[in-house]
Amino acid sequence: MDNSERNHSLRKDKIKFLLLEGIHPRARAEIERAGYLNIVEQSGALTPEDLHKALKGVHFVGLRSRTQLNAAAIDTADRLTAIGCFCIGTNQVDLQRAALTGTPVFNAPFANTRSVAELSLAEIIMLMRGIPQKNAAAHRGQWLKSASGSREIRGKTLGIVGYGHIGSQLGIIAESMGMRVIFQDVESKLPLGNAEPRADLKSLLKEAHVVSLHVPDTTETRNLMSASAISDMREGSFLINASRGTVVDIEALSEALKSGRVAGAAIDVFPLEPKSNDDRFVSPLVGLDNVLITPHIGGSTLEAQENIAVEVASKLVRYSDNGTTRSAVNFPQVSLPDHGDTRRIMHIHRNEPGVLQSINQVFFDNQVNIAAQYLQTAGDIGYVVMDVESDKASALMQGIAKIPATIRTRILQ
Ligand code: NAI
Repeated sequence: MDNSERNHSLRKDKIKFLLLEGIHPRARAEIERAGYLNIVEQSGALTPEDLHKALKGVHFVGLRSRTQLNAAAIDTADRLTAIGCFCIGTNQVDLQRAALTGTPVFNAPFANTRSVAELSLAEIIMLMRGIPQKNAAAHRGQWLKSASGSREIRGKTLGIVGYGHIGSQLGIIAESMGMRVIFQDVESKLPLGNAEPRADLKSLLKEAHVVSLHVPDTTETRNLMSASAISDMREGSFLINASRGTVVDIEALSEALKSGRVAGAAIDVFPLEPKSNDDRFVSPLVGLDNVLITPHIGGSTLEAQENIAVEVASKLVRYSDNGTTRSAVNFPQVSLPDHGDTRRIMHIHRNEPGVLQSINQVFFDNQVNIAAQYLQTAGDIGYVVMDVESDKASALMQGIAKIPATIRTRILQ
């Protein structure tokens, strides 16, 4: 890898952005607003071969879920400085390889929080009114005009499992519609509004008219809603899952829905989901009238796309402008103030003992005082940022680049 250009501060018009897969136009606007005008956009994902070619000379690449940025692509990219995943997941990027080449990866994990919370609220209303069954029947020509089993949500108890970004947002909007909110989380969480914590899942399940799941996919949450947990649910209650497909035993849920033990469900995520819109969806829930099935679109709204565009573009800009890596998924996280008139020198290295000492030695040898220094390490990578008032930047850069553990250096004038 040719590090010569990376060792120097580049003018903004020399810094090239490549945005793939039709990223929302707000991303371009955000990047341009920061003074970076060298932006190339492609509407689709690229084949690995085309990607290799397209990455040549690119400093910042933005992609969504269909571009596979594997180790080979990262290694052949000659100028790549940071990667922006304009989505929630980052599985499509070889994060470890990116880290080892000194390339932080950014995403927007919470940009669609509101979208999921809104859908869940709508589903609570639909389920409690028996709309899935009535809608399905009407499509078959049946007219189920009846108030039987149809209820308002006001005054009912919503049990939220996982009181994080989405769970707590849902709690607030459900409460504003008159629901009573209880929640259960493995961590101690500050209740918002009048929400009340419950010590364990079982007590929440016994109490709630509607249970909504908002936990991550972990070994603890896999099969959290097992046959036994489902049987703990209040008779005739409802289940919503817009978290991860692994959290619910879907066969057990299907049985409980057929028997009426669980009155209805709204399920957005499945243990097995089609890989593309051309593949067939298969699930034991298919054909059950009391189930609202949505194709993993809880977070898929135009507003969420826009939020993602702004969030990830601004993270790339911030890293380019001042070296901040806060919320990078594969990299030591440093949140940096602007560096004013000083020069900012950045050193990315393998996390080995003695590197900081070697860096400081270079400064000592050049008799340069460090105005501010920031260090963070994560896993195999260390990231040191130094602000200096000196015209010896070139000598300093050469000195620190020679430290054996160096992966990459960068300077901002
Ligand atoms: P978050 O990380 O903000 O919140 C998750 C909460 O669950 C945390 O408070 C955590 O302490 C808690 N938790 C973890 N293990 C638990 C357990 N065993 N029991 C109870 N609580 C537990 O995550 P966020 O953003 O609220 O997302 C929640 C889920 O929603 C994630 O699985 C995410 O993948 C999914 N999601 C689904 C979308 C969709 O399109 N359907 C879109 C966005 C997120």
